[in-house]
Amino acid sequence: MVVLVTGGNGQLGQALQSVAGNYPSIDFVFCNSSQLDITNLEQCKSVFNQFKPNFCINTAAYTAVDKAESEPEKAFDINTNGAENLAVVCKESDTILLHISTDFVFSGDFSTPLEMTKGYTETDKPNPTGVYGLTKLQGEQSIQNIWEKHFIIRTSWVYSEFANNFMKTMLRLASERESLSVVSDQIGTPTYAVDLANALLKIITACHAEPVEASYFGIYNFSNEGQCSWYEFAKEIFAQKDINIDLKPIPTSAYPTPAKRPGYSVLDKTKIKTIFGLTINNWEDSLSICLSKI
Ligand SMILES: NC(=O)c1ccc[n+]([C@@H]2O[C@H](COP(=O)([O-])OP(=O)(O)OC[C@H]3O[C@@H](n4cnc5c(N)ncnc54)[C@H](OP(=O)(O)O)[C@@H]3O)[C@@H](O)[C@H]2O)c1
Repeated sequence: MVVLVTGGNGQLGQALQSVAGNYPSIDFVFCNSSQLDITNLEQCKSVFNQFKPNFCINTAAYTAVDKAESEPEKAFDINTNGAENLAVVCKESDTILLHISTDFVFSGDFSTPLEMTKGYTETDKPNPTGVYGLTKLQGEQSIQNIWEKHFIIRTSWVYSEFANNFMKTMLRLASERESLSVVSDQIGTPTYAVDLANALLKIITACHAEPVEASYFGIYNFSNEGQCSWYEFAKEIFAQKDINIDLKPIPTSAYPTPAKRPGYSVLDKTKIKTIFGLTINNWEDSLSICLSKI
């Protein structure tokens, strides 16, 4: 079984590389952005012809959420056109496409505390508030229109020992400063990239063991279990690392950014757990595993 991974040097790409050895039945092909530029349809065709993958995991994306507001064409080219190109080549070669999407397809504007206990399900209506979320949603829609054999996995707040992410930024800032202010009114769930990598490979393993029922294709949510604010995430990082720092909660209004972020973007994972029998770690437990590797 051949699994081709785009964006192989990104955070999730490196997480997939770190667990690849646990899946001996899979021949992995990791492509970085110069080996496979997903905005280049001819290059996509040529790489697919060379490796003939059974599955493609698309981790490649334009992920600079704030910068996307000032360069929407580039974000659209990678997140929408790139996803479309992969759907086209996957259809031509009958390759199952696993595409990673985001909680930023949702506005996160919930009006009552009750609504904020449920989490977004896969059937909730997306309503992105920024360029990044919009281009990712359009990428999802392109795939849905072109190639039915797809899994679109929406995830949130991805961190790991690899690449740049919130956890590593907090650790760096703690070594440079005595106090830190972190937003406390955006609620979501951290996702350890290695847990996401394993979830993707379990889906692939399940699909390879038995023919996939057509009804299984579609959108799935995946993050760790539980929920927190960015402030609580930072607090837990410092607590687990025994770091003493003056950490202050602040409202989003005190930390303006070019892109508006969802206020609440917890994802309901009932579907992925039911269909693929996944058990998912609580976010604090996965954070502890990740911090032990730093
Ligand atoms: N990070 C998060 O918090 C988060 C949250 C929700 C969803 N997601 C989604 O999760 C997925 C993985 O994210 P990540 O954290 O691994 O992002 P990442 O670390 O930014 O990695 C993205 C990778 O995509 C590559 N790339 C960019 N343009 C490309 C192109 N035209 N062709 C091929 N590769 C290209 C980049 O390569 P270069 O560096 O060479 O450009 C980079 O290696 C993305 O779909 C993202 O939207 C991430």
